[in-house]
Amino acid sequence: MKIFEELLLKYNVPVPRYTSYPPANHFKDSYSENDFIRVLRGSNERKPENIALYFHIPFCEKICFYCGCNACSIGNGNMVKPYVAALKKEIELVSQYINKDRPVSQIHYGGGTPNSIDISFIRSLNDYLFSEFSLIENPEIAIECNPAYLDLKYIDDLLLAGFNRFSLGIQDFNTEILSKVNRQPSAIPPGELFNYIKSAGAGTGVNFDFIYGLPGQSVSSFTETMQMAAEIKPDRLVTFSYAHVPWIKKHQLILEKRGLPSAGEKTKMFLSAYDLLKESGYEPIGLDHFVLPSDDLYNALKEGNLHRNFQGYCTRRTTGQVYAFGVTAISQMDEGYFQNRKEIKDYISDINLGKLPVERGYILSDEQILARAVITELMCNNRVSFSKVASNHKVSVDMIKMSINFDEIKMHDMERDGLISYTPDNIEVTETGSFFIRNIAASLDKAYREKVQTYSKPV
Ligand SMILES: C[S@@+](CC[C@H](N)C(=O)[O-])C[C@H]1O[C@@H](n2cnc3c(N)ncnc32)[C@H](O)[C@@H]1O
Ligand code: SF4
Repeated sequence: MKIFEELLLKYNVPVPRYTSYPPANHFKDSYSENDFIRVLRGSNERKPENIALYFHIPFCEKICFYCGCNACSIGNGNMVKPYVAALKKEIELVSQYINKDRPVSQIHYGGGTPNSIDISFIRSLNDYLFSEFSLIENPEIAIECNPAYLDLKYIDDLLLAGFNRFSLGIQDFNTEILSKVNRQPSAIPPGELFNYIKSAGAGTGVNFDFIYGLPGQSVSSFTETMQMAAEIKPDRLVTFSYAHVPWIKKHQLILEKRGLPSAGEKTKMFLSAYDLLKESGYEPIGLDHFVLPSDDLYNALKEGNLHRNFQGYCTRRTTGQVYAFGVTAISQMDEGYFQNRKEIKDYISDINLGKLPVERGYILSDEQILARAVITELMCNNRVSFSKVASNHKVSVDMIKMSINFDEIKMHDMERDGLISYTPDNIEVTETGSFFIRNIAASLDKAYREKVQTYSKPV
């Protein structure tokens, strides 16, 4: 796959990742607990009907210098017990407002490093959920794990606790590169981990996460890592572009001293990975995911049913209103988003006072709900039909176009650049355009210009 230099120069500008619309940097501090309660109550009547539960476990053994997640050092581990107790109390608090007759379709533990805490804490949380909620048949129960701290006994315990999707943060197979970013390699060879998890049964899925753009990485080193990954053949593989945001994550400044690859080198790393993974039988999904053709996500893409939330891609079957628990966790409901307190001590203290720990949030206007439908459709399914979105929302096509930053001249410009094919009812993203999907979405986003300097660049 070749991308022309001029396109890269033209489109390598800061743009949102659109894991939500509007993106999280639009959230406001002015929302209160009462606003959250109103939106929680309203979510019982909204589509999708299912419940999705997210648990944020912020603790990590040590902090990787590239990390952009909401993570903190586990230290002596003293905070874990009160933190998990607060999570349970938070479920009780939120449960007062949601209709628990709706089934749970997705449970996701993210972080930080969920496997940094003793398995008994996770087991007791899951047991509590299984006793309090009903589940759809084959719900997705997923956990993000750092393989440096994962052994076979812990995997057995996670399987017994009900998990059926394991997301392993490999990042790179090259141990010299890992040491430059303050990270330990996998304790057990990733191929063995993969085989062990898969031997639990056909319903068990494994994702591998990688990052390109780290100090010490080159096109040949990253291609070698991708080659090793393709030989192991996890069901899903994610190649994250390293997001450098040192104004938010100060520890990332260390990487500037260790020599970050240029934007051009980063693009070549991604394109080489893209070609290799496609030749190895993977199908690209959205921004940075690759899946085997037998995977649910690929079927959903073919049918135009792919969705996305802060936890990643999902299918219509597992999509739900997301209720999120823990420090910094973001509940993602149809009407709006609410993020929890950012400091663990504040989070625990609010919960112990019986308060929902709201830090900030966002309630969408009717116009923004329409804009979100267009942008999500484009980001997930690589195409959007204005008339289909209009009919789903029972409004006119003109109304949809008024809700976004619709500009025919821009559409034709992107068509000339080979990023989209365009008719007045349809935007279809081309293979070249899929590399610039964030730019295409941003061109339709009325709110984009306000915050342009706060995003990372696409490459
Ligand atoms: C919460 S972590 C995964 C679990 C575990 N903590 C680990 O590191 O293995 C989620 C993923 O985000 C990705 N990530 C973290 N910081 C990033 C950054 N600055 N840019 C791009 N991806 C990043 C990493 O690939 C990581 O696996
Ligand atoms: S990448 Fe994972 S292990 Fe490393 S600091 Fe971030 S959350 Fe923790």
